[in-house]
Amino acid sequence: MSTHNTSSRSSEILVPPHILALRTYEPGLNPDEIRRQFGLDKVIKLASNENPLGVSPLALERAQESLVNMSRYPAGGLLLRRRLAELFGVQVENVIAGAGSEGIMANIVRTFLCDDDEVLTTEGAFLGFQVLARSRGVAYRTVPYKDWHYDLEALADAISPRTKLIYLANPNNPTGSFFTRQAFERFHGRVPERVLIILDEAYYELAMVEQSYPDSLHYRFDNVITLRTFSKAYGLASARIGYGFAHEDLITVLLKVKLPFEPSGPAEAAALGALEDRDFMLRSVANNSKGLAYFASSLRELGFNVPPSAANFVMIPLANDSDAEQVFQSLLQRGVIVRPLVATGLPACLRVSVGTPEENECFIRALQEVRQEMESLSYASVD
Ligand SMILES: Cc1ncc(COP(=O)(O)O)c(C=O)c1O
Repeated sequence: MSTHNTSSRSSEILVPPHILALRTYEPGLNPDEIRRQFGLDKVIKLASNENPLGVSPLALERAQESLVNMSRYPAGGLLLRRRLAELFGVQVENVIAGAGSEGIMANIVRTFLCDDDEVLTTEGAFLGFQVLARSRGVAYRTVPYKDWHYDLEALADAISPRTKLIYLANPNNPTGSFFTRQAFERFHGRVPERVLIILDEAYYELAMVEQSYPDSLHYRFDNVITLRTFSKAYGLASARIGYGFAHEDLITVLLKVKLPFEPSGPAEAAALGALEDRDFMLRSVANNSKGLAYFASSLRELGFNVPPSAANFVMIPLANDSDAEQVFQSLLQRGVIVRPLVATGLPACLRVSVGTPEENECFIRALQEVRQEMESLSYASVD
């Protein structure tokens, strides 16, 4: 047995510096723990962009039915790929299924990146992608937001001979902003063919209510991989099931690299059930749209200047890091868990997920109290 000191020395020897530099992912806080810690009756969690309506009963039923086959290895998501191909009018060769869209992202990073390549994205990009790219040990470059939107012009300007992968989330996490088809096409015209673009559409179903939100299946390019998920509008975050569309040559290489038995059988069955339950998905979309509209007007009334969101959360920029921390802690004491964005690289911002109407009202009431309590708080004011 080695001593603690010996093992920490050996980890320095064994672990590459880019892995040592990573921070362990901290999930949203657990409501039961917060309830106990602050002696509260009720705690609501609006921190992880989950579906506040839960899961479709049909998805649950299909997952339960599939459990009897737990002793068998699954078939790599083939049934789901076929169903998605049918639904979206593409060939099965253009579809991949995996353990969440992050699982597919991990395979993209493993498949396409070599040591000397460079990844390009925005500052404060979706944390899951940051971790995946940084853990590959390649150069990670970013350009600043422009008004909390992707600066696609600056991103195109930043492409270098080493750039291999560009990551864009539409709508974006954590800002909630989205870009139009014209903006993307203009950008794409400046991206060399040797550069792969991940177009992460995790919030696609929720964003489709926006008239100018573009469905990337309507503008296909050979160097673009679209990623989507069952974690949001379909309420299957814990099942770990997502999918992607791309040119068959890209899907073929991804299928070579992916773990053969991913996604799991129950996850695939749940996803197939979720696709049958369009009503549940549409109710989720309607609840989200109402919640976003309520957040936008209430936050404006409270004097917060919040970027418009097409996802299932809003981002609240505060004046500085300590205001953000103070608001986060004060909300916690009132039984509302939101998301600090320190790890994402935006320490002066908080992110709040849309909940049920009651949860949304509870959050706004708590924020109102916090605002009154912190009279001196200098939040970003409405223009
Ligand atoms: C932009 C974005 N992409 C991907 C994911 C993760 O999706 P999945 O649960 O399918 O891995 C999230 C989840 O928050 C997200 O915000």
